[in-house]
Amino acid sequence: MSLLDRINTEPPSARQDKNTPEANPALNEAARQIIANLESRMDKEPRLKTKEDRRAFLKKVIGLHRELIKNSDLNLTELSADLQNNTEQKKLYSAIEQEVLEIFDTNKQYYSRQEKAEIIEAVVSETLGLGPLDELINDSSVSEIMVNGCNKVFVERKGILEETPVIFFDDDHLKRIIVRIVSKIGRHIDEGMPMVDARLKDGSRVNAIIPPIALTGPTLTIRKFSEKGYTCKDLIKFGSLTPAMETFLRLCVEAKLNIIVSGGTGSGKTTLLNALSNFIPNDDRIVTIEDSAELRLQQNHVIICETRPPNIEGTGEITIRDLVRNSLRMRPDRIVVGECRGGETLDMLQAMNTGHDGSMTTAHANSPKDLITRLETMVLMAGVDLPIKAIRQQIASAFDLVIQQSRLQDGSRKIVKISEVCGIEEDLILMNDIFVFEQTGVHSQTRKVEGAFKPTGIVPDFLHKLEAKGLKVPIGIFGGL
Ligand SMILES: Nc1ncnc2c1ncn2[C@@H]1O[C@H](COP(=O)(O)OP(=O)(O)O)[C@@H](O)[C@H]1O
Ligand SMILES: [Mg+2]
Repeated sequence: MSLLDRINTEPPSARQDKNTPEANPALNEAARQIIANLESRMDKEPRLKTKEDRRAFLKKVIGLHRELIKNSDLNLTELSADLQNNTEQKKLYSAIEQEVLEIFDTNKQYYSRQEKAEIIEAVVSETLGLGPLDELINDSSVSEIMVNGCNKVFVERKGILEETPVIFFDDDHLKRIIVRIVSKIGRHIDEGMPMVDARLKDGSRVNAIIPPIALTGPTLTIRKFSEKGYTCKDLIKFGSLTPAMETFLRLCVEAKLNIIVSGGTGSGKTTLLNALSNFIPNDDRIVTIEDSAELRLQQNHVIICETRPPNIEGTGEITIRDLVRNSLRMRPDRIVVGECRGGETLDMLQAMNTGHDGSMTTAHANSPKDLITRLETMVLMAGVDLPIKAIRQQIASAFDLVIQQSRLQDGSRKIVKISEVCGIEEDLILMNDIFVFEQTGVHSQTRKVEGAFKPTGIVPDFLHKLEAKGLKVPIGIFGGL
């Protein structure tokens, strides 16, 4: 029973004092206010702090969910697949609320107002949403969710991994949620096809892998994606680059240089590519190509293409490579490829070397030098028999700029190098670093990385390209004399 309910139901004899709410209506009102405030504050205190609390709570929720599905006239499993609009959602929400309240009544279960609200919300989540995951998906401070079997859910907040008290009732429960996610976009997961990529309707990227391949139980990795993505201004605030570096990068994008962002998994390549892409002028025709559409471009003239895995019969696959080739027939001003992982690299290089300037992509490598080796390997994956020298030649003349992104040991992401690709000399690709992040140490208490972004003093060779396009480059950003 809530405090407020108690005040209304306890007999006056329990409080004889003249100063009680009963004796003084004004006081009564004041008391109500204070208690209502107190209760609303209590409502915000998480009650389900431990996994044990949650297990007991989930038991109730799942029981109710089953009863609901069994008894309800509404075909809830069907309905959850696609809710057209908000009104429909609200109607369903209140129908579920009504049914749950009736079940409470029939079973003579009494809960406080807060508990009732929590249970109903969880049953709604269980029925229409993604169950225990919803609270993490709705938490904007969470950037990544990792579920390793039903008992272990980790999240990433501000670059730091932490375990949460969130659990699933059992592996079957977790698998049911996974099936719901993938079936919403027409994909399929079972023992025969135990690995799948999917996307939530807000654009978040999902990977699921289940037994017998995943031995620790059904595993889910969700990379959340914000509506707009981060801008370079946001990234400056996070300490990932400086305003001078931003100015430089903006000019490079405007001048249609070919840019590649290099970095490890989760280092922020896609985020940076998105921020850079937003410097593309509004009237350019942009074709974006990704495995799973993550980029959020704000321009007018954007065509978004996404690959498709083969169907159950093993046919119908559309690869990044197919899309890159196709995009050349779409009269693009810019081609933005989410990530080069294989043979498409050759097509990208050829496009860049045949006049499709201003293209951008990312690739997985730990340093600009490492990136070159990686690019060579990926070109060879195209299955053509090109001598390494010719490949290097193509790489050197295709790319103008390499941006190295890194996730440092404190979880922060930074641009650790911006390097110009200058050309090729005796089979070696020459690069000049224009900006670097110099780490000086780690703070003894906070463990935060300490250091500074510095221009190296080298003025890029391609400066004339920028100036030829009428772009004014503030020469001071290069830190020269
Ligand atoms: N500069 C940054 N500062 C803080 N967080 C970032 C930064 N860049 C990316 N992130 C976060 O890191 C996670 C991984 O970023 P993403 O761009 O998808 O990496 P990648 O493409 O390299 O795998 C995302 O949750 C993203 O919001
Ligand atoms: Mg990425």
